Amino acid sequence: GCASVGAAPLLGFKSVPAGTADTVTVPEGYIAEALAPWGEPVGIAAQSPAFKFDASNSAADQALQMGMHHDGMHYFPLTPTASETTGLLAINHEYSDDGLLHTDGLANWSAEKVRKSQAAHGVSVIEVKRGPDGRVEVVRPSRYARRITAYTPVELRGPAAGHPMLRTAADPSGTRVLGILNQCASGITPWGSYLTSEENFAFYFQGPDQPDAHQRRWGQRKEMGQYYRWHEHDERFDARKHPNEHNRFGWVVEIDPFDPTMTPVKRTAMGRAAREGATVAVTKDGRAVVYSGEDARFEYIYRFVSRDAIRPGGYRANAELLDHGTLFVARFDADGRGRWLPLTHGAGPLTAANGFADQGEVLIKARQASDALGATKMDRPEWVAIDRERWVYCSLTNNSSRGQAGQPGVDAANPRANNVMGQIIRWREDGDHDGATFAWNHFVLAGDPANERAEAKGNVKGDLFGCPDGLWVDRRGVLWIQTDMSSTAMGKGEMARLGNNMMLAADTKTGEIRRFLVGPPGCEITGATGTPDGRTMFINIQHPGETPSERTDPANPRRYSNWPDQRPDGRPRSSTVVIRKRDGGLIGT
Ligand code: FEO
Ligand code: CA
Ligand code: CA
Ligand code: CA
Repeated sequence: GCASVGAAPLLGFKSVPAGTADTVTVPEGYIAEALAPWGEPVGIAAQSPAFKFDASNSAADQALQMGMHHDGMHYFPLTPTASETTGLLAINHEYSDDGLLHTDGLANWSAEKVRKSQAAHGVSVIEVKRGPDGRVEVVRPSRYARRITAYTPVELRGPAAGHPMLRTAADPSGTRVLGILNQCASGITPWGSYLTSEENFAFYFQGPDQPDAHQRRWGQRKEMGQYYRWHEHDERFDARKHPNEHNRFGWVVEIDPFDPTMTPVKRTAMGRAAREGATVAVTKDGRAVVYSGEDARFEYIYRFVSRDAIRPGGYRANAELLDHGTLFVARFDADGRGRWLPLTHGAGPLTAANGFADQGEVLIKARQASDALGATKMDRPEWVAIDRERWVYCSLTNNSSRGQAGQPGVDAANPRANNVMGQIIRWREDGDHDGATFAWNHFVLAGDPANERAEAKGNVKGDLFGCPDGLWVDRRGVLWIQTDMSSTAMGKGEMARLGNNMMLAADTKTGEIRRFLVGPPGCEITGATGTPDGRTMFINIQHPGETPSERTDPANPRRYSNWPDQRPDGRPRSSTVVIRKRDGGLIGT
């Protein structure tokens, strides 16, 4: 009850040391157990093909199983009366490692392998149940179980839907897309839906031989198809044949997890970006405000403010709420103040004469519009989280290009050249969440004071870390920070003392940061959610052993992982992890 919540110290656990073990390490008194790794059946009735440890499952099997590379996630209580023990987990599957996905890896590349890779992408919805002993299990079968893949029919809605730039030969209406791509971070709405963003979609498209200015601004190059090789068997991903297909990705996708028949919707009003997540606040008069960052070097932080107030009645009552509103991009000024610049067609430079024919084109070309408005080019904005005092936190994970020849130099918000460590910036709106201006500061600059280079020292008060990525504020007000040091940098050079990727807990009042969890080698830690009672937390371990299909780097043997199964005939698998206290107490105490 409330009394015990108030009595517990915010951070009561004993810090976990940095480490390199092939396991998930949590503090004394805590348990961490894998749940629903890649390949486990999601529990669609009577269709539950078991995972085969030699990766010989077919594409059709994969479409009924957990996808690869778990990322953002949220727990939705199923009923108000059993909210702690029965719920749905919506889980992103960011990408595939095709060397690991197929028994013979990338050899004998085929249409079946492309289809399996596409089926390993997207989102899973699974039903979970917590028993009296605290253990969590997947409920199978479940009428809620669902897979959304890179070929599931999806609608495009909002101001850009139907735009000429979104029309293709297969979809002359510009309103129906197949699939969602590279689902990274996530968000939830107050009306009970799941938001999932399409991040590095550019890597799926074979670009034109000579991309135009728009295509170049969005990362299209002729060699891009080499990463996933989908275009070799699915010409939708060949931009030389279907140039507009690329414009149909890079959107926030809304999913009602309680209705497995619902068609997911790409909400164009929030603008196009290689976006990380979508974190929702509510104005005093009940409108939705969605904060997000575009995780790419020198890209931007965005805010969408809905025109209308949220209505009671769940997803159906709010099915058009995110289609109407105003998109803004952030400018961080040197005096600790900032301003939201509207991406509104006709305002300022956003005119037809400058290449923006209408609002749809402003949204499809949100990068160019933000360039024109003079927004601040950030150090790879990743997750966003909001604390109880209305501070909005965004992790700027790193940017080694900052200050390099021909690249933007340092500025107040992005103060370090060759920024390998990253920082967490935060801002608070003047007035309500729809204010025009805000105050900002850095919550922390990540790093290690033992480093020689001033830019890699940081100012961490507590346990050291680098490359903040996932952020979540829990019900007690703890800011959880998850890291994503790249697997090639991990354990070496300026990262030498930081060990594997980790999760830390921060007290936002004191600034103290304490390490709570260390993951297996090569993985990143991502996705954070929990039951409403604060006694079960869920996180994701993504790409343990990265990249297992290229496990040949003698300089970095620590990349090896066989987590979580540790079977000699198995392979490392991304997975959700359930964290609980042995005594059933609140997580973090
Ligand atoms: Fe998918 Fe920016 O991490
Ligand atoms: Ca991320
Ligand atoms: Ca990252
Ligand atoms: Ca990732």
